[in-house]
Amino acid sequence: MSNITAEAEIWAKEKLGGDSSGHDWWHIERVRRLALRLAAATGANAFVCEMAALLHDLADEKLFGDEESCLRDIRSWLAERNVAESDAEHIVDIIANLGFKGGGRSGLTTLEGRVVQDADRLDALGAVGIARTFAYSGWKGQPMHDPSLPIRTSMTAEEYRTGKSSAYNHFHEKLLKLKELLNTDEARRIAEDRHRYMESFLRRFEAEWNGTDAW
Ligand code: ADP
Ligand code: NI
Repeated sequence: MSNITAEAEIWAKEKLGGDSSGHDWWHIERVRRLALRLAAATGANAFVCEMAALLHDLADEKLFGDEESCLRDIRSWLAERNVAESDAEHIVDIIANLGFKGGGRSGLTTLEGRVVQDADRLDALGAVGIARTFAYSGWKGQPMHDPSLPIRTSMTAEEYRTGKSSAYNHFHEKLLKLKELLNTDEARRIAEDRHRYMESFLRRFEAEWNGTDAW
């Protein structure tokens, strides 16, 4: 591990260590590991992927408010450590364009950007993805499920950010769509099983909710 990735790790732990919204340090560590694996499979630049993965949630407006000022902090942090200007710009550009923001629309154009986006999305799937969704909903004060809430299958960025949802609806509003939005073959391969697991969880959840499993 280079010194800079070790320092980025310390910074991310400092900022996200106490998080209970599903964006804690261990989310970062899983995304970093997945990003390195996808980088190896695709030939993407491992340093850029690892750094972007380590810092990717430090400009999330859900957690830290003003995204622009967070991105400026990341830029200065990289400059202070003499990260090559082209790498630094690339890393910041990935972080700025990572979010889902309702539509899956994305300004990511480089292989490294696509790799980190896939890694972040894979961590929203499967058993860990299910756990994170319920953790996030509790953190945000949303219900786990409320059958009277409409499922919004297409939303503007504004609606996605501010609208009322639930953990259950989030599967339909975002998580079940992610498989189709992945960029790399390796991520699609990993997503298969995670996607199936979520579908089977939802079937079970619905059966228990309705009591159809009980007799
Ligand atoms: P990322 O790690 O990509 O920044 P998000 O910030 O979109 O992901 O979400 C973090 C976690 O919280 C994910 O597992 C996601 O599914 C979940 N989550 C995000 N928005 C909602 C929501 N409105 N309701 C329930 N869970 C959510
Ligand atoms: Ni993330």
